[in-house]
Amino acid sequence: VQSGLGSAHGKAILIGEHAVVYGAPAIALPLLDLQATASVRDSRRGYLTTDLYTGPLNDAPKDMGPIVTALRASAEKLDVRAERLDVILRSTIPFERGLGSSAATAAAVVRAVANHAGVRLSPAEAHELVQTAETVAHGTSSGLDAHAVQSLAPLRFQQGKPTTVQVGAGLTFVIGDTGTVGSTAAAVGGTRMLRDIQPAVVDRVMEDLADLTDDVAVALGDGDAVRVGRNMHEAHTLLAYLGVSAPALDALVAAALEAGAYGAKLTGSGLGGCVLALVPDQELAGKVAAAMTAVGATRVWTTSLTPNTTD
Ligand code: PMV
Repeated sequence: VQSGLGSAHGKAILIGEHAVVYGAPAIALPLLDLQATASVRDSRRGYLTTDLYTGPLNDAPKDMGPIVTALRASAEKLDVRAERLDVILRSTIPFERGLGSSAATAAAVVRAVANHAGVRLSPAEAHELVQTAETVAHGTSSGLDAHAVQSLAPLRFQQGKPTTVQVGAGLTFVIGDTGTVGSTAAAVGGTRMLRDIQPAVVDRVMEDLADLTDDVAVALGDGDAVRVGRNMHEAHTLLAYLGVSAPALDALVAAALEAGAYGAKLTGSGLGGCVLALVPDQELAGKVAAAMTAVGATRVWTTSLTPNTTD
């Protein structure tokens, strides 16, 4: 039996979420410890097996939409019948926490179907298929997640174009999960409504976020963690002003700062989900993780960014 494997990882947005929807830059970090893996093999039953649903592809519930879309779109592109494949999908990326779970599961499926068919998709082709699934999951999206879950390096992303970010010194981050979900569609939709009512105010906030993001790109290259942290904190304040924070997120941000983080902010679309904190070293990472847990974080992860020399 012919089979194929595919995987993709989680991501966290360092800075620039929401503003990226309006053409500003954003920077995303790879979370390599969080993985989605898909395996695909020929079968007459056409079964989908995921952490949430096992059964025929055709009976998959609505919330499987992005996965089913990724599967059907890649099968169609590669001239195979989706109903003649068994797909097993496993993911350690929690759902709707801004960590890229929908894009990573879609990317894993696309890659597995391509490997099964013995076809090497170009990055652009793979991206387009993942983005099709992302549109089902979130409505219109900037395309950042679809790139970030397939990039091992941190990415700067603007108007559809990803570029690798220079990192001059190692950085340690702690991610705290509030355990609450935030709907990307609701957060993006709410921001759009606010902009319809108060365009000048919202556009000004987006410009400020863009400036902070550009400055973070420079600070990352310089290895200036203090400056990155300061900008992260300012970005959180602006995102809260836009209405996409939540008490549980603010509590984790405050706890991280009090425990010695250089900066902390919500990451992803907000309303729920996770907080990303930049910490001076591993020892502080433990303290910040404990502080976040003490105020309600249901899970914490530590992730490091290593220096690179690529363009
Ligand atoms: O919550 P996530 O990880 O899906 O991030 C969404 C990021 C936004 O900027 C809010 C939306 C987008 O399409 O870029």
